[in-house]
Amino acid sequence: MPEQSAISHATRVLAAVDHGVRADLALRDHIAQNRHLSPPEKRTIARAVFAYFRWQQWLDARQSPPQRLAAALKLQAGFETDEKSIKPEALAARAVPAWLWDELPPLDAPGKAAFLRQLQREPVLWLRARPGTAATLAKSLTSSPTDRTSDALRYTGALDLYRTEQFRDGAFEIQDLASQLVGLACAPQPGETWWDACAGEGGKTLHLADLMANKGLVWASDRHTGRLTNLQRRFARAKLFNYRAAPWDGSAKLPTKTKFDGILVDAPCSGTGTWQRNPQARWTTTPDDVRELAATQLALLTHVASSLKPHGRLIYAVCTLTLSETTAVAAAFTAAHPELEPQPVQTIWPHELNANGMFIAAWKRIK
Ligand SMILES: C[S@@+](CC[C@H](N)C(=O)[O-])C[C@H]1O[C@@H](n2cnc3c(N)ncnc32)[C@H](O)[C@@H]1O
Repeated sequence: MPEQSAISHATRVLAAVDHGVRADLALRDHIAQNRHLSPPEKRTIARAVFAYFRWQQWLDARQSPPQRLAAALKLQAGFETDEKSIKPEALAARAVPAWLWDELPPLDAPGKAAFLRQLQREPVLWLRARPGTAATLAKSLTSSPTDRTSDALRYTGALDLYRTEQFRDGAFEIQDLASQLVGLACAPQPGETWWDACAGEGGKTLHLADLMANKGLVWASDRHTGRLTNLQRRFARAKLFNYRAAPWDGSAKLPTKTKFDGILVDAPCSGTGTWQRNPQARWTTTPDDVRELAATQLALLTHVASSLKPHGRLIYAVCTLTLSETTAVAAAFTAAHPELEPQPVQTIWPHELNANGMFIAAWKRIK
């Protein structure tokens, strides 16, 4: 697709964003309305839209949207040719909002430069193969394995994956590598009973059910019933049946009296760990959001804690790196729950894995 044509499509997406629609949703709607677009054309348009938000603070607001989109694509290409052409100080000042620096764990200068450069790269696509099938899947789809987990593959081909036979057969899920590490941190055993308390559309529920080899039970709850409906579709495609979906609004009124071997709280968060994939959020997320979400996260953990069996494990995951939503939530929860023994936490930076940033904390019930 010629650049001018991609810019013309992207300009229409930005017009929807100006009316308050989130960029990724505006892009999805635009693509749905233009069915003639081929997968490479869709990718070119997406690239232009996301480059715009990645380089927004370098753009001249007096220029027209097409001119700014062209400038953003030029900045992206220049950065990809020579990442050192933009100094870390310039990235620190313009690639992220200033408030972020008060909220991040300390980074040394090389770490800070690596983090910022990662945010300005185009993200890669991670797949989760069904357990033990990554080698076969890698052969049938153009993808390369990683040594971080046995089932994760980095997709490097050009297909529309949702239209592949392998996807329809439930041979893989599109799931970020850091999210896959959350399932592995849970490490549920076949026959156990787990609760994925913020299951959404079930990305991690599916992983838990798969790790349990379809044996035992995973409860999946969320406050959005529409998301649970999609979860049920995904389970059917994966031919997994060891789950039960139940709405839960996050309040003290729990969906079940069941006591669990493990509970995952993959809580709503500010998503700063996803700012490479979703750069618009850098400019829409505020410190107030971070404060409010931290209170919600602590409430969710508090409400589920009594549902753990003795020796049961509670896992808290957020795809954000802000101190308020990570170590501060974990510390407040630990202080209020002497019956739960804290386990080591993991802070995963985007540049460490070429994936989303993620924080994972865990506790084990000792009484
Ligand atoms: C990070 S997303 C979950 C993603 C999902 N676990 C996955 O792997 O695909 C957080 C989820 O928490 C849900 N949520 C938000 N606030 C909630 C609340 N107060 N109580 C329960 N669920 C909530 C949201 O609807 C959202 O689906």
